Amino acid sequence: MNRSMTRSIVSAAVLLASLTPLAASALDGAKLFKEKTCLTCHGKDGKTTIMPNYPKIAGQNRDYVLQQMKDIKSGARNNGQTAAMKGIMHLVNEEEMEALADYIATMTP
Ligand code: HEC
Repeated sequence: MNRSMTRSIVSAAVLLASLTPLAASALDGAKLFKEKTCLTCHGKDGKTTIMPNYPKIAGQNRDYVLQQMKDIKSGARNNGQTAAMKGIMHLVNEEEMEALADYIATMTP
């Protein structure tokens, strides 16, 4: 294999690596989890919650997690504790919620 072939293979690999996250979501769920303050209440590992009665979410089913976020944001899910989280849900749009759901599902429970 000559040098230029090696170079093309390397650039193809770099290109692939940069495109791969698009398969799930173009956004970085781990980054959003910090930026959108999720970790404040749910813990940076998704299970060291700030309050003992807040839910551990690490490793939870992706579709379930996404639906809960949507329902908390819309108000469809509403009980005494939901209010705490609803207050920050204006910070995330649907695409961001999807990226967050992807990320949460991969966290170690
Ligand atoms: C101010 C504290 C707070 C913040 C910030 C917060 N949450 Fe929550 N979250 C809660 C509480 C409290 C509940 C439980 C709500 C209830 O009892 O209905 C909850 C519930 C959830 C649930 C549903 C869990 C289940 O088992 O049904 C998910 C998923 C979730 N949060 C994800 C997130 C994500 C992602 C973010 C960041 C965008 C976030 N939360 C930010 C407090 C918070």
